[in-house]
Amino acid sequence: MESSCKKVCVTGGSGYIGSWLVKKLLEKGHTVHATLRNLGDTSKVSFLKSLPNADTRLVLFQADIYNPDEFELAIKGCEFVFHVATPMLHSPQSTQYKDTTEAAVAGVKSIADSCVRSQTVKRLIYTASVMASSPLKEDGLGFKSCLDESCWTPVNLSYQHSNDFMMAYVKSKTLAEKEVLSYNEDQNSDQLEVVTLACGLVAGGTLQNYPSASIGCVLSQLTGNLIYYEGLRFLQEILGTIPLIHIDDVCEAHIFCMEKPVMKGRFLCSAVNATINEIADFYCENYPKFKITEKFTGGVEGPTCKWDYTKLVKEGFEYKYDLKKILDDSVETGRRLGVFSE
Ligand SMILES: NC(=O)c1ccc[n+]([C@@H]2O[C@H](COP(=O)([O-])OP(=O)(O)OC[C@H]3O[C@@H](n4cnc5c(N)ncnc54)[C@H](OP(=O)(O)O)[C@@H]3O)[C@@H](O)[C@H]2O)c1
Repeated sequence: MESSCKKVCVTGGSGYIGSWLVKKLLEKGHTVHATLRNLGDTSKVSFLKSLPNADTRLVLFQADIYNPDEFELAIKGCEFVFHVATPMLHSPQSTQYKDTTEAAVAGVKSIADSCVRSQTVKRLIYTASVMASSPLKEDGLGFKSCLDESCWTPVNLSYQHSNDFMMAYVKSKTLAEKEVLSYNEDQNSDQLEVVTLACGLVAGGTLQNYPSASIGCVLSQLTGNLIYYEGLRFLQEILGTIPLIHIDDVCEAHIFCMEKPVMKGRFLCSAVNATINEIADFYCENYPKFKITEKFTGGVEGPTCKWDYTKLVKEGFEYKYDLKKILDDSVETGRRLGVFSE
C-alpha cells in the first residue's frame, strides 16, 4: 500500500508562510527538505530544528534563488515541492540578474527543471499572490467584469499607491507565476503537474518572533504604520477590496493541493474580502481602545467587479477562518509581539 507519509521540499522554510507550512507537514508525518539561504544563521536553524518531529523528519538545505541550481539537492527524491521562497530585495552584487523579476523567473525555471529531472516529483506547488491577478484591463482603461483566475495584473502601468518596491514585487510574482504555469503546457515536462495558489493577504498567527509584513499591513490602521498602510491602499487600488486569508487556511490549502490525486493549474486562494473602511469599522467596533485616524481610512476606490474564488472550493477545499477570526488572531499576535503602544 502506498504510504501516506511523503518526502516533500519547502523552499523558504524559515519564512512566515514557509515555517507554518513546515510545522504542519512535520505534524502530519511527512519528511521535509526545507531550504533557507544561510545555514549559518543559527536563529533560523534552531527555530526550525525546535519544531515537533524536526529531529527525525526535517532536513535543512542551503539554497539561494540567485544561484538557483542550489535547489537541486533539496528537491532530489521528493514527491512534492512547495516553492514558497521569493526574492523580496534585489541582490545588488548579482551580475547574472538585473532585478528580482529576472531572479524570480530564473528561480522558478530552475526549480521546475530540477523537478522534471528528479523523476520523483509529481507536483510543484507555487505560492503565488493575488497581487498578480488584478482585473484591470491591459491598457489600464477600466476593469474586467469579474476577478477570477483568468486575470493578470498589467505590470507596465503606474499606480497611484505603488512604489518601486511594490511594483518590483508585483512584476516578479506575475512573471514567475506565468513562467511556472507554462510547464503545464510543455510536452517535455508532462509528468510534472504545476499548481499555483494566488493567495490573498495572509494574517492571523505566526511562529516567528516578529510580525510578518502581511500582518503589519493588516494591523497598519491600529499601529499607524504608513508604509504598511500604503500596501493596503495599493491592494484596494488594483483589486477593489482586500482579499484576506488566515495563515492556517493558506497552509491547509497548500497541503490540500498536495493530497489531491490529480491537480494542476491556477487557483485563487482567499477566504474573504473587505474594504479598508470595513476593516476599520471592525476594529472600531471590536477594539474601541484603538483610535483610527482619518488618514487610515478610505483609500482609492478600486474596481467594483464581481469576485469568483470558487475554483479551489469546487475542488473540495474548505476555508475555516472568517474575517473576524483573521482580524482577531492578528490583533492577538500584534499584542503578543508588542507592536502596539497600548
Ligand atoms: N504573506 C502574504 O500575505 C503573501 C500573500 C501572497 C503570497 N505570498 C507569497 O508567499 C511567499 C512567502 O512569503 P512570506 O509572507 O512568508 O514572506 P517572508 O517571511 O519574507 O518569506 C520569504 C522567504 O523567501 C526567502 N527568500 C528571500 N529571498 C530569497 C532568495 N534570494 N533565495 C532564496 N530564498 C529567498 C526567505 O528565506 P530566508 O529565510 O533564507 O531569508 C524567506 O523564507 C512569497 O512567495 C510571497 O510572495 C505571501
